[in-house]
Amino acid sequence: MLRKVSAVVLGGVLIAATLAACGGEGSGGGGAASGKDDGKIVMGFSQVGAESGWRTANTKSIQESAAAAGIELKFSDAQQKQENQIKAIRSFISQKVDIIAFSPVVESGWDTVLKEAKAAGIPVILTDRAVDSPDKTLYKTFIGSDFVLEGKKAGEWVKQEFASAAGPVNMVELQGNTGAAPAIDRKEGFESVIGSDPKFKMLASQPGDFTRAKGKEVMDAFLKANPDIDLLYAHNDDMGLGAIEAIEAAGKKPGTDIKIVTVDAVKDGMQALSDGKINFIVECSPLLGPQLMDLAKKVLNGETIPTRVLTEETTFTQDQAKAALPERKY
Ligand code: AHR
Repeated sequence: MLRKVSAVVLGGVLIAATLAACGGEGSGGGGAASGKDDGKIVMGFSQVGAESGWRTANTKSIQESAAAAGIELKFSDAQQKQENQIKAIRSFISQKVDIIAFSPVVESGWDTVLKEAKAAGIPVILTDRAVDSPDKTLYKTFIGSDFVLEGKKAGEWVKQEFASAAGPVNMVELQGNTGAAPAIDRKEGFESVIGSDPKFKMLASQPGDFTRAKGKEVMDAFLKANPDIDLLYAHNDDMGLGAIEAIEAAGKKPGTDIKIVTVDAVKDGMQALSDGKINFIVECSPLLGPQLMDLAKKVLNGETIPTRVLTEETTFTQDQAKAALPERKY
């Protein structure tokens, strides 16, 4: 575990512990209070779960990047439950890790545990998803996508795709898990583009929890209640892939009878796009590991870092998916 820079310089555990309790800038966190001083950074990472292909790729990126950066990773899978993430963060605090990173399953309800980390002098980095905490000093930075922009890109494609249609265009939406930043923002972004145009009619919008199984189940119910669906907007590929199974089981052709736009661009989604079963995918990159490790080192070195680090992303048509698939790593 990393010992605080100030502890080494001042040679006094008491002084270092006092500085850590004050949450001084550039604090190396629990290293000062830990008995070990092997110079190795210890990061506690609380992951949302393993709900999607995107999440699996994100976990791999974080684990591989930690190993490559020589950072010891304490990894915890919350199985999509906020209470598990809070428990994991508290356990990281009591283990006196040097830095905590996590991808919050939902936006709200983090202030208490983040204040506990701050009081212990352990810096926190948010990855992938944001929290709605008004106190921005509770975390050092947030690395991830602009989910509102992703929703807007999906909406812009839909507007263009149906530009010559007389309407109404009957749409259904599969949302991510309730309260999650990508579910809230992707809905908002899409509505900001589509919402004011009376030609587009949202028949139903429900959570599919970012999973293939729930995407299939909810799409099945949508199809039973609404015989004339023109478009499905799914907040991720996995729900879109589950919905494709439901559409085929209902005797319809996904991508033709019902147009489909999703978010992520994981390999299975790109395959379905290239096969003509999905029509358009907005990319959301899970490869956040290298940036996270780099920023963690900077924080622990006392360097100034940006408070928001945006991920660069693109979009894919069916032809672009065909071209990109052979090189797609996840
Ligand atoms: O937070 C990112 C989202 O979470 C991805 O789009 C989705 O696939 C995942 O479960």
